[in-house]
Amino acid sequence: MSRRPFIAGNWKMNLDLASARALIADIRARIAGQPPIDIAVCPPSIYFFPTAKALADSPIAMGAQNCHHEKAAFTGEVSPAMVRRRAASMSSLAIERRHTIGPKDAAGHVHGESDEMVALKVRAVLDAGLVPIVCVGETLDERDANKTEAVLTRQIHGSLAGLDSAAAAQLVVAYEPVWAIGTGRNATPQQAQDAHAHIRNVLAEKFGRSIADGIRIQYGGSVKPDNALTLLSCPDVDGALVGGASLKAGDFVAIIEAGIKAKS
Ligand code: PGA
Repeated sequence: MSRRPFIAGNWKMNLDLASARALIADIRARIAGQPPIDIAVCPPSIYFFPTAKALADSPIAMGAQNCHHEKAAFTGEVSPAMVRRRAASMSSLAIERRHTIGPKDAAGHVHGESDEMVALKVRAVLDAGLVPIVCVGETLDERDANKTEAVLTRQIHGSLAGLDSAAAAQLVVAYEPVWAIGTGRNATPQQAQDAHAHIRNVLAEKFGRSIADGIRIQYGGSVKPDNALTLLSCPDVDGALVGGASLKAGDFVAIIEAGIKAKS
């Protein structure tokens, strides 16, 4: 089955407003016409309005980095409906919130968002008519202990609990090994392909093979122009969730071009 490749840039807390506007103008200038690939950028929520304006009439969608599953009364949070009103077409739920935002235990491990919390958000994002990017991935300790597949199985089942096949068909999944995020150390193409194939098999057990074959699975973790083509050439790698390299127009567009080349 052919899946339309999807490259998303996650800006995290980077860029001031002037540089965000300049980055979008530069990306737009480098992308001709309607590329055969889905593209999105995910600004911090405080930049939704100007980002949506700067992206108007372009082939680039806007996403949020996070949202709260409730509709009201949570100080400082943003609801999926508020994201939707800013013309965002997808919402990204980043793995980093599982492992970087939350209290630390005595061993220094962060206990962030649980699979149960992610599942509530996935449902709320779908109900708002947005596309969730559901991030999963193992820590280095888990990989070294040969637990990668078990962790991915648990995260997929937990994060997608209660979804039916029709809802699952709307999803994007991102495989983001925690040890590769922002570290400059990417998964090898073989490691990425193995993890993606495993994720697709778990999705097939849960939702049926034809739904699983239609779900796009992005790779995220130190994707750069020089490793994008080999990663994106893997049969089960359908795109990339890009952090650092999405902050430079030349690098981000080079990754988009690698996605087009890999899948054409
Ligand atoms: P990175 O971030 O590309 O800087 O490793 C990836 C992500 O967090 O989505």
